[in-house]
Amino acid sequence: MPGTASLPGFAVTEQAPAKINLALAVIGQREDGYHLLDSLVTFTAFGDRIGLSPAAQDRLTLSGRFGDALAADADNLVTRTRDRLRGALAASGRASPPVHIHLEKNLPIASGIGGGSADAAATLRGLLTLWQTDVPKAALDAMAISLGADVPMCLASRPLIARGVGEDITPVPMPSLPMVLANPLVGVSTPAVFKALASKHNPPLVLDRAPADWPEAIGRLRNDLEPPARALCPDIAAISESLAVTSATLVRMSGSGATCFALYPSDAAADRAATALAIRHPSWFFTATRTLGADDGTH
Ligand code: C5P
Repeated sequence: MPGTASLPGFAVTEQAPAKINLALAVIGQREDGYHLLDSLVTFTAFGDRIGLSPAAQDRLTLSGRFGDALAADADNLVTRTRDRLRGALAASGRASPPVHIHLEKNLPIASGIGGGSADAAATLRGLLTLWQTDVPKAALDAMAISLGADVPMCLASRPLIARGVGEDITPVPMPSLPMVLANPLVGVSTPAVFKALASKHNPPLVLDRAPADWPEAIGRLRNDLEPPARALCPDIAAISESLAVTSATLVRMSGSGATCFALYPSDAAADRAATALAIRHPSWFFTATRTLGADDGTH
């Protein structure tokens, strides 16, 4: 598993943890088309990594299992993040010298676990460290939401409830939980899933913010995007069934899919399940990991 260690040869390394929507309610829609959400979110030790170093000129390099699936061009969210931050710093007369950014892409693309948003958030954190500067929190939050609805929560990278379109964040005291992530390696279009949603006005999540048994409490919640995603991508049902026959205490889809997660009573149970599933379904992606607890410092 890609570790939490530094990327060799880089001045700064930032982790970009995967975002998991443990539950997600779609409770309305704004006039601009964006949906109002109520989502219980956590992050995993498994994720991408970003390395940053001063350079003679700007460059972006890619590695990792899914690095080939992305282009290192101006469209890349990492590049857009760098340029957006540089613009904001220039407006207040601050320097932002050329930088080599390396993205180790370990997370499947377009998979409902916020990979691009995690990379954008890690790029913001890493550049502020490298350039030894800061921007006021309100400006950073505005920049984050303009880069993507999930970027503000990825800047937090701790258990939280996200409301609004994702920018209204409340931390929750959730512990670290053993988890398996499973993805059929078929990308799912987030706008298409929202479009296929039967109702955009569903009840909010009913959650005790500090339950004694988190997996049990999460089990009573739901992901409103799961039915439309299953209709668009039949592999989601197949991958859920593969997880359901392990010792998982809960199986659900994250975000708009297709990644599904399963919770386990122990790391050993999660490891055993991921190993067995990878043998049984060699064309799918499985990884055992842990979620980041409220008290874990990640950066
Ligand atoms: O903000 P981001 O680019 O990550 O969102 C991708 C797409 O997901 C949007 O274009 C929109 O169709 C949909 N979306 C939404 N409501 C949200 C978040 C995303 O409709 N709260």
